[in-house]
Amino acid sequence: MKKIGVLTSGGDAPGMNAAVRAVVRAALQKGMEVVGIYRGYNGLINGDIRPLDATSVSDIIQRGGTVLYTARCLEFKEKAGIEKAKQSCIKNGIDGIVVIGGDGSFRGAADLSAAGIPCIGLPGTIDNDIAMTEYTIGYDTAMNTAMELIDKLNDTASSHDRCTVVEVMGRRAGYIALNTGIACGATAIITTEMPYDLGEVTKKIAESKKAGKNHFVVVVSEGIGNSQKIAEEIEEAVHIECRATILGHVQRGGSPTLRDRVEASRMGYYAVELLEKGIGNRVVGLQHGDVIDVDIQEALSMKKEFPADLYKIANEIAI
Ligand code: ADP
Ligand code: F6P
Repeated sequence: MKKIGVLTSGGDAPGMNAAVRAVVRAALQKGMEVVGIYRGYNGLINGDIRPLDATSVSDIIQRGGTVLYTARCLEFKEKAGIEKAKQSCIKNGIDGIVVIGGDGSFRGAADLSAAGIPCIGLPGTIDNDIAMTEYTIGYDTAMNTAMELIDKLNDTASSHDRCTVVEVMGRRAGYIALNTGIACGATAIITTEMPYDLGEVTKKIAESKKAGKNHFVVVVSEGIGNSQKIAEEIEEAVHIECRATILGHVQRGGSPTLRDRVEASRMGYYAVELLEKGIGNRVVGLQHGDVIDVDIQEALSMKKEFPADLYKIANEIAI
């Protein structure tokens, strides 16, 4: 391939910039030209495409968000949108594209690959909800951000003899909730993947309170929602003051952690190696720490196993 494009799509995630940098630098190193496609698939359809050189991605590895901007593009879900995107690739001499995003973005990448433009997907989402990979770019930063914020909420909860109910992001997935819940010593972690009984949660808090514990953390995943209602029910059942906090989009921002920067760099480099060989319609991910690639359709059909063993540990060591 002579010229490749790179775009970010769907929700932004810290580390996307590190991936863009790796793609650009690796492609240039291999003698290819690189263009940035702005605001996801919209930029492809509208021709918002600009050349990127080695220095254009300098000083971005440590920045959150995405310098290529991101968007959701409804037109791309239609056949006509894919055709427009294909024509835009032909017009701009783009032989292949690295798409950094989540499942939705990969569906688009599969459609464009089928239309004759080889695409490689890189998992970029804080949710870690992509089955073919154990790790998605942005996940580590988001978890660490949430952990720091929950620690702060815990400080004030302990000063006031309160229970803090914290809702963390993850769309329908509970990976951020599970891990931050363990890391912050949550008395209960409530996610959509595991059955839960609020009566059991309040019973556990009541028993702990009786034994002398004065403050509690309950982590709720976004997919459950209702964190305010959960807080009210705990307050009523246990007679402890409760406050609910929805952490929200702060979890999507901030400077990426070392892990996000390194994994984004590894996966970005690997994606370019695939395109260099003329391979498309693959998603790159991590399995047992190794960088691997899987057919996009196969990746989309895979189901992610929720770590019930970790959930069990979390519950058993929490009081
Ligand atoms: P994510 O990639 O984070 O899962 P979305 O689901 O919002 O985020 O998808 C991002 C973009 O990917 C959409 O705005 C659309 O342009 C494209 N996309 C999503 N689903 C499809 C689909 N079924 N076919 C083609 N393109 C899609
Ligand atoms: O997929 C990342 C994510 O932050 C989810 O955790 C959340 O459900 C969703 O995106 C929020 O999307 P938006 O930025 O459109 O509000």
